[in-house]
Amino acid sequence: MQRLSGKVAIVTGASAGIGRATAKLFAAEGAKVVIAARREAELETLAAEIASEGGEAAFLAGDVQSEDYAKALVALAVSRFGRLDIAYNNAGTLGEMGPTSGVSEAGWSAALATNLTSAFLGAKHQIPEMAKHGGGSVIFTSTFVGYSFAFPGTAAYAASKAGLIGLTQALAAEYGPQGVRVNAILPGAVDTPMYRDMNDTAESQAFVTGLHALKRVARPEELARSVLYLASDDSSFVTGTASLVDGGASITRT
Ligand SMILES: NC(=O)c1ccc[n+]([C@@H]2O[C@H](COP(=O)([O-])OP(=O)(O)OC[C@H]3O[C@@H](n4cnc5c(N)ncnc54)[C@H](OP(=O)(O)O)[C@@H]3O)[C@@H](O)[C@H]2O)c1
Repeated sequence: MQRLSGKVAIVTGASAGIGRATAKLFAAEGAKVVIAARREAELETLAAEIASEGGEAAFLAGDVQSEDYAKALVALAVSRFGRLDIAYNNAGTLGEMGPTSGVSEAGWSAALATNLTSAFLGAKHQIPEMAKHGGGSVIFTSTFVGYSFAFPGTAAYAASKAGLIGLTQALAAEYGPQGVRVNAILPGAVDTPMYRDMNDTAESQAFVTGLHALKRVARPEELARSVLYLASDDSSFVTGTASLVDGGASITRT
C-alpha cells in the first residue's frame, strides 16, 4: 500500500540531494508533489522523471528567502492538486564558513534567511492551508551540527539550524490543537553536493565518515525514508521532535 496516497506535499530544496530523493519517494508513495528550488532546469528534469515513474509533480523555481515564493508554492499546491497535507522545508546552505571573527554580517544574515527565516515563511503559509482539512505534517531539515556536534567555523550554519529546533517546538505547541504536526530531522553527514563541496579531499571524507558509529555517511534515500515516516500517518502521534538520523554520530567518541 502507498503510504501517502491522496496526499499533497511541498518539498523545497528538491533540485538536489536529500530534497530530490525525498520528492521522488513521496511521489512513489502516492503523493502529488510541488517541488521547489532556484534551479528551474533541475526541477523540470525531476518533474519529468516523477511523471515517467507514474507520479505527479508540479514545479516552481524561486528563492526560499522570499515570502512571495512561500505563498506561491502553497497556491500552486492548491490550484493544481486541491489541498496541502505535507511540507518538507528542506532547502539549506552552508553559508559563509570560517573563523567567526571574519564572518560578515551579510553572510550571517544570508545563512539565517535561507536556513531559518525560510522555514518560518514556509510554515506561516503552509499551516493555515493544512488546518483547513484537519491538519498535516510540517518537517524541517536541521542538522547534527550545533546539536550533538560542533565544528569550528560553522557559526551561522549551526545557529540557523539550531534555531529550527526552537521553531519546531513552538509551532508544534501552537498548532497541535489543529492537527498540524511539526518535526525536525537532524541528519548526520549525507552524500550530496553540499557534503562533497565541504569535503573535497579523501582526508576530510575519512574524518567525517569516522565520526559516525556506522563508519559511513548516509545516502540521500536513507534520509528520505525517515522524512517519509514523519510525513506519513505512521508518525501520527509524533510532534515537536528533533529526530536524529545520524548513523550514531551523537554517541560516538572513538
Ligand atoms: N548533506 C549533509 O551532510 C547534510 C547534513 C545535515 C543537514 N543537511 C541539510 O539538508 C538539507 C539538504 O541538503 P543537501 O545535503 O541535500 O544539499 P544540496 O545537495 O546542496 O541541496 C540543497 C538544496 O537546497 C536548495 N536551495 C539552497 N538555497 C536555496 C534558496 N535560497 N532558495 C531555494 N532553494 C535553495 C538547492 O537548490 P538550488 O541551488 O537549485 O536553489 C538544493 O536543492 C539542507 O538544509 C542541509 O543543511 C545536509
